[in-house]
Amino acid sequence: MPQPTVHEQIAAHRLLPVIAIPDVAAAGPLADALVAGGLPVAEVTLRTEAGLASIEAMAKRDDLLVGAGTVLTVDQAERAADAGAKFIVAPGTSPAVIEWCLKHDLPIYPGVATPSEITQAVTLGIYVVKFFPAEALGGIKTLKAFAAPFSNVKFVPTGGVSTANVADYLALPAVLACGGSWMVKKDWLAERKFDEVERVTREAVQAVAASA
Ligand code: 3PG
Repeated sequence: MPQPTVHEQIAAHRLLPVIAIPDVAAAGPLADALVAGGLPVAEVTLRTEAGLASIEAMAKRDDLLVGAGTVLTVDQAERAADAGAKFIVAPGTSPAVIEWCLKHDLPIYPGVATPSEITQAVTLGIYVVKFFPAEALGGIKTLKAFAAPFSNVKFVPTGGVSTANVADYLALPAVLACGGSWMVKKDWLAERKFDEVERVTREAVQAVAASA
């Protein structure tokens, strides 16, 4: 049987935990907590020093899909790919980063905040985008307005998504998955509260199952 693609795996889990890892020693227990919580997917951001090394450590596991987040430059995309990242997420739409990812068959979810940016992404051949920062930009109301003219585009709303509103976002046909840091708070990692990561992750997975 063919392996599911990255898009298919993210679409199946419907959640994308956004993680800022304080130190590489947290990577292993964090991965264990996500897997135990029922969500073997991680977007490890490059906004901490430990990001790349953590991606490298986590990408060695075969029970977890690991991608890189906060990728702003081609150089970062290249380093993330070298570390084993299976996908790239960016807060904005950089044609250079998108083109590099497409050339290297690396799925990329660029951030969009406006119809012009969605148009730019589509022009480059991208049909799944991150809607960021979702809540600050009007949340579900804005997303519905985007979905009307861009009916062939799927969105991953991120920014202000939580257990409280995730089901409402996922109810929209245009939403492929929701991203967010609420399942893996940076403080929990620093304080080694991996049981908290597992608990909130499981709660989020259950909220998704209940909304299906
Ligand atoms: C991101 O980079 O995707 C955001 O920081 C996540 O937003 P959140 O912290 O509001 O979930």
